[in-house]
Formats: sequence, structure tokens, C-alpha cells
Amino acid sequence: MLELKNVSYEIPGKKILENLNLKFISGKKYAILGTNGAGKSTIGYIIMGLEDYKPTTGNILLDQKDITNKSVFERAKLGITLMWQEPARYEGLSVYVYLTLGGRLNVNKEEIFDALNKVGLDPNLYLNRFVDKSLSGGERKRIELASILLLKPKYVVLDEPDSGIDIMSLDMINNVIDYISSYGGTPIVITHREEMAFNTDEAYLVCAGKILTHGPTQKVVEIFKNICNTCSHPNIPVTEELKLNGR
Ligand SMILES: Nc1ncnc2c1ncn2[C@@H]1O[C@H](COP(=O)(O)OP(=O)(O)OP(=O)(O)O)[C@@H](O)[C@H]1O
Ligand SMILES: [Mg+2]
Repeated sequence: MLELKNVSYEIPGKKILENLNLKFISGKKYAILGTNGAGKSTIGYIIMGLEDYKPTTGNILLDQKDITNKSVFERAKLGITLMWQEPARYEGLSVYVYLTLGGRLNVNKEEIFDALNKVGLDPNLYLNRFVDKSLSGGERKRIELASILLLKPKYVVLDEPDSGIDIMSLDMINNVIDYISSYGGTPIVITHREEMAFNTDEAYLVCAGKILTHGPTQKVVEIFKNICNTCSHPNIPVTEELKLNGR
């Protein structure tokens, strides 16, 4: 189980996350829902332990062990992975080298072909391409998804997996989510689109750096639709004045 316990994250002059408690039990599929600027990606960065994203207060626990002070590399070794909202570019690295971590990942050609096919890329056309600006954002995102299929991490934070990928490919992303689950991994899907959350069991709804509610995805999506989509003050916490006005 991966757990965020009373986690807050502040930068000078701004509270970005406030006293968050989240639990990700292995074997379940999770969504983190919220509108733009709610704090979703920041939660992903805190889980991954990116430089400058150490909690100001609180702890991150993996199977009851405190990993708050572990680096991004140590967490990767423990099986935690983040797929970026904006996929990275690696000048001079071919798709093949990227997918096999420079040949260090013990996978055969068949597995690589299978992973690329699963994310909708023809291996014959892509294996020797470079993971640089010559690939479109959507293509890079698909290659990151393929790398997840090969690495089989335990906890996979997918930050807006559908951004930059055409709507027709929602099924492909859902297949990847199911695949993560099938080998015993725990997908954590960050999204502001309810369709993207439907293939998960439980969801957390984030607003202005706080958890508004959590529970079965269907219920949380209903609340998201009814409250957030029509909210007149997105990402501004409810004040006394708003309460008086019935919001
Ligand atoms: N380094 C920073 N300096 C100032 N503000 C920041 C910084 N990092 C994050 N923020 C702010 O924190 C809030 C949460 O950002 P975050 O990227 O986590 O949102 P998000 O929910 O992922 O949004 P989106 O759906 O647009 O991706 C935003 O208001 C953002 O502007
Ligand atoms: Mg984001």
C-alpha cells in the first residue's frame, strides 16, 4: 500500500497542497479528479519524490515504511513510476534504447514489438526513431506508455494519460490501465475528464489543494459533475461569503 499521510506542500507565499490523506491499496485502480490547477500533478510529483517536491509536512509510506526522504531514483527502484502530463524528450536516444534502458532491461524483441503494438505504434516504423522533438507529443506519450508495459512498475501515476492523444485512443489507455492491474500493479490516473476515470475503482476529488471527497469512482464522478463542472469559484476554497450565497 502507498500512503500519503497529512501531506502539505507549500512554496514561498503559496499553499499548494493542504493536509492530504490518500491511500492506494495494491490490486485496486484509482483516479485523482479535479479541475485545472487543483493540485493533481503536484500530488503526482510528491508521490514520485521529484526534486523540489518534498512535502512541507507529512509523510509518504510504502508498505508501512517511510519513503518521504527517498530520492526519485530510489522510489523508481521500489516500483513507483510517473508518466508525465507533458512527456519528456531525450535527444539522441532511439525508441529501442529508451524502451530497454540502453539494453539494461532484460526484454526480448517480441515483448518490445508487443508493447508498441499495444499502444498503437507500428514497431517497424518507430523502433529506430529518436525520442526527441521529431516525435509528436502524442507519439512520445504512447512510447512512455509502452515503457510502462515493459517495466511493470508496482505503482503507476498516469498524469492526464489522454492529453495529446486523440479521443479514439481512450480504449488503448483503458487497456494499458487494465494491463497494469493484471500484473498486480496499481494505476493512479490523474484526470479532469470523467470518461477517463470510469475505468477505476476508487477516486479522490481534489479542489484547491484539498481532498473534497473520496470513494467509489461512480459516486465521486457524480459529485465532480454536479459540483465542479458548474462551480462559480473553481479552486477557490469555500469562504463564509460563498456559504452565505448558498455555494
Ligand atoms: N512552482 C510553482 N510556483 C507557483 N505556483 C505553482 C507552482 N507549482 C504549482 N503551482 C500552482 O499550484 C496549483 C496546482 O498545480 P498543479 O499543476 O498541481 O495543478 P493540476 O491540478 O495538475 O492542473 P492541470 O489540470 O491544469 O494540469 C496551480 O495553481 C499552480 O499554478
Ligand atoms: Mg496537471
